[in-house]
Amino acid sequence: MRLPSQVALVTGAASGIGLAVARRFAAEGASVMLADASEEAGADAAWQIRADGNHAQFAHLDVSQPDQVTQVVEQTIGTFGDLHILFNGAGILTYGTVLETTVEAWQRLIAVNLTGTFLCSRAVLPHMIARGRGAIINVSSTTGSHDACAHAAAYVSSKGGVTLLTRSMAIDFAKQGIRVNAICPGPTDTPMLRKALTPAELEAFAKTYPMGRLGRSDEIAAAALFLASEDASFVTGEMLHVDGGQTAEV
Ligand SMILES: NC(=O)c1ccc[n+]([C@@H]2O[C@H](COP(=O)([O-])OP(=O)(O)OC[C@H]3O[C@@H](n4cnc5c(N)ncnc54)[C@H](O)[C@@H]3O)[C@@H](O)[C@H]2O)c1
Repeated sequence: MRLPSQVALVTGAASGIGLAVARRFAAEGASVMLADASEEAGADAAWQIRADGNHAQFAHLDVSQPDQVTQVVEQTIGTFGDLHILFNGAGILTYGTVLETTVEAWQRLIAVNLTGTFLCSRAVLPHMIARGRGAIINVSSTTGSHDACAHAAAYVSSKGGVTLLTRSMAIDFAKQGIRVNAICPGPTDTPMLRKALTPAELEAFAKTYPMGRLGRSDEIAAAALFLASEDASFVTGEMLHVDGGQTAEV
């Protein structure tokens, strides 16, 4: 057990990477509040974690809505009595150049991926500061942390923002005992990627990277566990690439 007696709030916990993180944190002894805009899948996921004998609840949350974020943070502390870890996993992906991106699509993507990370972090920080410790783990991407990619202007911009927001918060709250890091996943086999690409495209895409395969959500969760745990007690402001070598060859 690497997270005994810890309380974690995981956003985007109904699917993909967030779901794997919620399951792994709970299996490692944490009490986990799964928060997601997708109510049915999120409630099912929390039920399954409880059926496995671990501690989890579900809260409906749109991370772009400040009032909902405040309420879910209060609910987490009210339910489990504390809050030590925030995993900002909620995210959306749209493709398009600047010319192909509508104002509405741009605003929605930034609201979820970047403003959502800001709002959730802002809501948990006062509690963590009062306790003198806390770990926030954001999700950037290989695109946006290290380089850009074609036809994803809004997404790449949001992830670039998450990268520098991570470093800003790491610097601003280091002396209060808060560690803030980000994971930069390479292409990972999740519903997000499967919605964006056909199976044949996915296979061809995966072959272009050094390991020649997509990452798995549980491999991202393992990195999140490290950053959330005491093993990472001197790690803050870090962009941890979990990408099968993708950025090594850029
Ligand atoms: N899959 C990849 O290849 C990959 C690579 C790099 C980064 N990422 C990032 O990892 C994170 C998770 O992505 P994933 O691949 O697991 O996707 P996913 O679509 O499987 O899961 C995303 C989850 O976020 C939830 N969500 C979306 N909008 C929300 C909102 N406004 N409020 C609350 N929840 C919301 C969805 O309901 C879903 O459950 C995202 O930030 C994504 O950008 C993914």
